[in-house]
Amino acid sequence: MASCGSIRTGGILGTPRMYGMVNKAIEDMVRHHHGDAAWEELKARAGVDVEMFLNDEAYPDEMTHRLVAAASGMLGARPDEILVAFGRHWISYTAAEGYGPLMTAAGRTIPEFFASLPSFHNRIAMIFPGLQPPRFACTDVTATSLRLHYVTHRHGLTAFVTGLLEGLGERMGTPVRVVLVESRDAGADHDVFDVSWSPGG
Ligand code: HEM
Repeated sequence: MASCGSIRTGGILGTPRMYGMVNKAIEDMVRHHHGDAAWEELKARAGVDVEMFLNDEAYPDEMTHRLVAAASGMLGARPDEILVAFGRHWISYTAAEGYGPLMTAAGRTIPEFFASLPSFHNRIAMIFPGLQPPRFACTDVTATSLRLHYVTHRHGLTAFVTGLLEGLGERMGTPVRVVLVESRDAGADHDVFDVSWSPGG
């Protein structure tokens, strides 16, 4: 069966911090759907005292999780629902921020993009040198499905990946079905998603 990339597990990559672009994307999502006052209230609820997130400054992951938890409380949605929505938003947000051509170069179809996904963040690391990117690999690749392996030293972003994959499908006009089939939370070595799409994707 075909595959792409390879997965090494283990290894701590340092203090969990992410570039501010991530929190800026949450801000953009909240402002866009709920308005400026909602964003200010959300930051207050999350105890986040940052006037303006900077793209190229690193913020503790824990701050991102506080924003997600506060959004969950405020909007009456589960944290994983917020993360799925955020993953979907991330695809359109990064495209609007100038990263669209990078995504297009990585693949115009779902299978093409998945083949590039294991090395995708290498390009991004040239722009953000301190990047601590996730690792991806595909196994069991068929014309309309694959298993995506997601390895990270971070916790709590599984639903974000689901949203990212759905967002990619939307961007490419090929809806994808994403099912978590092995979960680190349930004791697996890493998360594994079953991803499938219609023929012609
Ligand atoms: C051009 C579009 C993209 C850009 C600019 C981008 C950039 C980033 C940045 C800056 C981070 C924060 C990590 C850090 O600061 O150390 C990140 C994290 C992440 N990215 Fe991307 N990304 C893009 C597309 C994608 C896509 C398409 C996927 C998967 C389908 C993806 C999966 C992830 C995940 C899961 C994380 C969380 C980190 C982790 O799990 O350890 N990204 N990305």
